[in-house]
Amino acid sequence: MQDTPWWKSAVIYQIYPRSFYDSNGDGIGDLKGIVLKLDYLAELGIDAIWLSPVYRSPQDDNGYDISDYQDIDPIFGNLTDMDALIAEAAKRGIRIIMDLVLNHTSDEHPWFVEAKKSRKNPYHDYYVWRDGDENTLPNDLKSAFCGSAWEWVPECGQYYLHQFSVKQPDLNWENPKVRKEIYQMIQWWVDRGVGGFRLDVIDLIGKEPDTGVMAEGKMLHPYLKEMSSAVFQQKELVTVGEAWSATPQRAFLYSSPDGSELSMVFQFEHIVLDQQPGGEKWDLAPLPFAKFKEIFTKWQTSLYQKGWNSLFLNNHDLPRAVSRFGDDGEYREKSAKMLALMLHGMQGTPYIYQGEELGMTNVRYELSDYRDIELLNMYRERKEKGYSEQEIMDSIYAKGRDNARTPMQWSGEPNAGFTEGTPWIRVNPNYGSINAEEELQDPDSVFHFYQKLIQLRKTIPVLIDGKFEPVLSEHPDIFAYTRTDEKSCLLVICNFTGREVRYDLAEVWEDGELLLSNEENGFAQGLLRPYEANMVIKRKEGVS
Ligand code: GLC
Ligand code: CA
Repeated sequence: MQDTPWWKSAVIYQIYPRSFYDSNGDGIGDLKGIVLKLDYLAELGIDAIWLSPVYRSPQDDNGYDISDYQDIDPIFGNLTDMDALIAEAAKRGIRIIMDLVLNHTSDEHPWFVEAKKSRKNPYHDYYVWRDGDENTLPNDLKSAFCGSAWEWVPECGQYYLHQFSVKQPDLNWENPKVRKEIYQMIQWWVDRGVGGFRLDVIDLIGKEPDTGVMAEGKMLHPYLKEMSSAVFQQKELVTVGEAWSATPQRAFLYSSPDGSELSMVFQFEHIVLDQQPGGEKWDLAPLPFAKFKEIFTKWQTSLYQKGWNSLFLNNHDLPRAVSRFGDDGEYREKSAKMLALMLHGMQGTPYIYQGEELGMTNVRYELSDYRDIELLNMYRERKEKGYSEQEIMDSIYAKGRDNARTPMQWSGEPNAGFTEGTPWIRVNPNYGSINAEEELQDPDSVFHFYQKLIQLRKTIPVLIDGKFEPVLSEHPDIFAYTRTDEKSCLLVICNFTGREVRYDLAEVWEDGELLLSNEENGFAQGLLRPYEANMVIKRKEGVS
């Protein structure tokens, strides 16, 4: 295993900085706050932190609209704080992964400020422009945040493209100068000591706005190869691309073991299915359990030895895992552990989104307590279309991005111990019973369950290399699989319901070693109690 890159046995923790920990009482989490919580993360056992954007930004989309890639936004601190974070994390064996937003910048980025002055400006070509007149859009492309993807600029007599908000103009990757500036900027961060990058909506950079092909344009993979050889193939960097359009076939390219593009991609097939006819694009489509199993099985088997999976159930754009796939009521702890075991038993690099290790849940707020631009735009658009208030709020409760963005629940103190001031977004009212302080004291907490899973990944090689095979694939309530290598075979078996369920397995597993279970009474073959999950290993005789 000498040549195996570090990130194949790593667990990565995502921090959404504004909601993690506020060190100065202004209600917004910051870099100094992260440093203060590094010991907590070291205790959990993670290897790297993916830091959502902390660059200088007008914060129209909470930092995914960058106005200076080489500076820190004052709400989060400054470059000295960033250097301190990198150094303090390194002392604990933790690497920092920066979030690179390369598809677009902020409209307040100096490049765009220049670009929109006139067609002759040297920066004009850094962005994507199309002719038209004030009343005729170039075409009917839509922004992901509602409305047209085109915005008129009278000074130029042209429209610019924005796949997200009007304050997020799309960069023109066809311009070699843009690509060069980007690679230089990335190198600057590498030289500062970061351990890798998460690449925001990277499948969009090869966009072809005239044909409507936005994801996976012809030039996407050539650009990735160029960027990879320019800056990614050094210093053991890990790179993970966000690719909503990814299929296993495409993932072979992105995460090919030859390292010519990225280490891995986030794929979203298990998050959102194709919309049914008439379904509204914004909502999550229903995800039948059989389909959920089928999707994971497909990705596990097709990438085996040909690519690398990233494993996640939630992030800052998605509802909380336990609320979506488990039960955030009676079986909250048990189902949170079950989901963790299901995910961490598979092949790939697991990602934990802040608070997931506590079993944090979705929220149901009044409209005025929400902050997310996507959610608020959707609300306005649906109001105009005549949706009822209840319908809109139900969509927000199920899918709104603020579900994941409420402050980290550190303790039962006011505002969950997140800030001494007024938090930028309300704290989930359940922090009295769900918080880190209590979970650290309880050996059976969700936190300690995650800690054990992370430790297992460091000590049980079959978790890294073992071949995945589905078991009980037709079972309507159970997700089970084995992982096998020359020395051992491991079984993961999970009940996705709040009922007792029964099953038949020809192979006897009760004589194996129970590595981890969320059930106090151990593993009893043939029966699973509500949301029960087990990981059992059998070592092959005569092999050492
Ligand atoms: C990604 C980010 C999301 C952001 C969008 C635009 O999907 O994860 O938070 O709004 O890109 O940058
Ligand atoms: Ca602060």
